[in-house]
Amino acid sequence: MKLNLLWMLVPLAALPLAAQPSFDRDIRPILQKQCQGCHHPAGAASDLDVTSYAAFAKGGKRGPGFVARKPDESLTISYITGDVKPRMPMGQAALAPEDIDRFRAWIDSGAVDDSPVVISDNSPSVYLQPPVITALRWSPDGQRIAVSGNREVLVHLADGSKLVQRLAGKAERILSIAYSADGNTLIAGGGTPAQFGEVQIWDARAGKLLRSATLTNDTVFGASIAPDGGRVAVGCTDNTVHVFDTASGKELYKIGNHENWVLASVFGVDSKRFVSVSKDRAAKLIDAGSGAFLENVNILRSELNAIARHPKKDVVVIGGEDRYPYVYNMDRPKNMKIADDTTLIRKLDRQDGPIFALDWSPDAARIAVAGIAPSVNVYDAETGKLSAQCKGHAAGIYAAAFSPDGKKLATGGFDGKIRIYDSANCQLLTSFIPAPLSAGTPAGGAQ
Ligand code: HEC
Repeated sequence: MKLNLLWMLVPLAALPLAAQPSFDRDIRPILQKQCQGCHHPAGAASDLDVTSYAAFAKGGKRGPGFVARKPDESLTISYITGDVKPRMPMGQAALAPEDIDRFRAWIDSGAVDDSPVVISDNSPSVYLQPPVITALRWSPDGQRIAVSGNREVLVHLADGSKLVQRLAGKAERILSIAYSADGNTLIAGGGTPAQFGEVQIWDARAGKLLRSATLTNDTVFGASIAPDGGRVAVGCTDNTVHVFDTASGKELYKIGNHENWVLASVFGVDSKRFVSVSKDRAAKLIDAGSGAFLENVNILRSELNAIARHPKKDVVVIGGEDRYPYVYNMDRPKNMKIADDTTLIRKLDRQDGPIFALDWSPDAARIAVAGIAPSVNVYDAETGKLSAQCKGHAAGIYAAAFSPDGKKLATGGFDGKIRIYDSANCQLLTSFIPAPLSAGTPAGGAQ
């Protein structure tokens, strides 16, 4: 009793922080865990997006998400307490009573936004050590190399002599980069783990972010752009592939034929179809216009992590956990039996570890295979014979890309260094750390 009285006399501002309802501490984690899956920008059920305070406040089709100081007039309270059907989270167990109380208390106290200030898009990341390289691409004119950094894409002159652009977005991690064939557009896919995925569409020449879409509640994988630049496909941890219109940034549709995370994708030569590969072991051919599933490209063997296409034909190379790169025709004749594997053109050597990156040289001559093993294997695409082994990296190579003329191969991974080899014999031409390391650490730039 005495204690309670004392409590009431304490001025509000002096209350221990934990006692004051907080959006950031109390509400956001619930939204992220139990609501965001259906209420995010790229797929907002009933137009409600709960991935930010502002969007949650704005609300959905029926009005604002909440009314400050009026829990009983707040849409969210009526939906989570079961006053309306369907109760939220839809199709799942009701929120724990403590969580419902958290919503009530926070709205009752004024529904204040105490989200931490997000590091502004133009405050550049600081690098104390080279971050793991997870994606890299050459610009189609061969002048530049775009590499994943922390919260940004780092664009270097292709000889590593200069960092020319820092393309900073929201996503903490960039896991895939692709250029349109004309070199005008660069797309980057990634996200902040366990929070959101992001697809960024950049004007590659101006270094200007044209659009960004956040989707799902985890990072996205294997973003690819159609050769004609019209569409972007991206794989997600909710087993879907989302397809966007590049010009407007609008999501056109998502496909749900996979049964596990979708990790990579590539469009066909005519931009009308794409293939996505997944941990569910399947490479699926999809009509890029309608999103209709056409057929499985492969016989299911093991989890797939990577895919690349022949530069002029609808032939793909896929690879993953079983360590073999498989070269397949994208098409299967309609009347083929399920177990028929005659569209498999070739199986390359077993690698020394799971495969994480594949590339087919633009002159069609070579296929590069990279992964957990510390060397990148280069194969003659016609004969399937190993032609060279590029060494020097520490184990864990997550990105490999041929230059547009096919003469060079750039690789990067765990050790944070880009290495550029002569693709014919794997002679090392140059290497550099793409992240601009801050003073006090070994110099960045060309080495
Ligand atoms: C499995 C998907 C799913 C999950 C998870 C989910 N919702 Fe919903 N939510 C929906 C759908 C679908 C609707 C539209 C229902 C309708 O129109 O009757 C909806 C509608 C709403 C609305 C009404 C929006 C409006 O203006 O029309 C609110 C508020 C809401 N949800 C809050 C939540 C909250 C809070 C959570 C988490 C505790 C949550 N939802 C979790 C699918 C979901």
